[in-house]
Amino acid sequence: MTGSDRSPQAGLERPLGEDGGDGLTPTGDDRLTPTGDDPHTPTGGGEPTASLERVAVVLGGREVLREVSLTIRAGEFIAVLGPNGAGKSTLMRALLGLVPVAAGSVAVRGRPPGRARAEIGYLPQRQSFDASTRVRGVDLVMLGLDGHRWGLPLAVTARARSRRQRERERVREVIELVGAQAYAQRAIGELSGGEQQRLLIAMALVRRPRLLILDEPLDSLDLPSQASIAALLRTLATGERVAVLLVAHDVNPLAAHLDRVIYLAGGRALAGPVDEVISAPRLSELYGMPIEVLRAGDGRLVVVGQPEAPHVHGHRHGP
Ligand SMILES: Nc1ncnc2c1ncn2[C@@H]1O[C@H](COP(=O)(O)OP(=O)(O)O)[C@@H](O)[C@H]1O
Ligand SMILES: [Mg+2]
Repeated sequence: MTGSDRSPQAGLERPLGEDGGDGLTPTGDDRLTPTGDDPHTPTGGGEPTASLERVAVVLGGREVLREVSLTIRAGEFIAVLGPNGAGKSTLMRALLGLVPVAAGSVAVRGRPPGRARAEIGYLPQRQSFDASTRVRGVDLVMLGLDGHRWGLPLAVTARARSRRQRERERVREVIELVGAQAYAQRAIGELSGGEQQRLLIAMALVRRPRLLILDEPLDSLDLPSQASIAALLRTLATGERVAVLLVAHDVNPLAAHLDRVIYLAGGRALAGPVDEVISAPRLSELYGMPIEVLRAGDGRLVVVGQPEAPHVHGHRHGP
């Protein structure tokens, strides 16, 4: 578990759009959404899944988000980046209707966020299981279907039995979708971090959400696991037409798979293709101070000069 503040770093070995892109992103600076100006980022692609219009969120008397305007479309895979405390989790919670907005409006599938909960799959920050967790992966996924009903005595009516049958079928389906068949019957505590994350993603997917919100699911994973989860989410977004919002500290393992990033700093948000948002002029503007973006020898970009110290890729330090 880490509460560290790892700076987003972009590693762009090739321009976005060649593989992760799928032609959804037009070219030109108008792709960028400066906060508060144009709420409708023209990425093309699917219909709007969620939108925020000049949203402000105040927590403990402090304005955590202000003038945030975004449109998230079906089939998009978006990373939400920014330093610790920038409001990434708060933004996700606003979409879920878990924190009230002080100004502006939020809509998910055209409804107030609280009423769209059934259409959102949510994996909160810091979900992991210690080695003593005996519950099987498959049972965890089942829990995503209907947490409160799980554990009740076996259904007796024919209708309930057939519903149960459909549910089991759906559980099998999502386990296959995330590629967890080989270990879904094992106790979750015995599995690797990457395997646990796949099952948690399956759990979040089981009710066929239109919006999947994953808050730092890659936090404790090694690089190969991060890369394979990123590839999985790309496939899910495109294949299932789910809009995927993934909160992350390090964009490098994700960059090739993403349609866009949302970068939060100082309560404001900037959205656009990764290579354009994570650039010196754009981040300097967002932070309101000079920010440098350096390219490492291996193609990674490192953000330098933001209020907190930059971190070497993959570096973890305690909370
Ligand atoms: N319930 C709360 N009451 C007061 N302040 C809060 C609350 N939740 C979060 N905050 C503050 O809001 C800011 C944004 O938090 P958060 O959204 O968790 O940031 P991030 O996920 O980007 O690290 C932080 O300064 C945090 O301390
Ligand atoms: Mg957070």
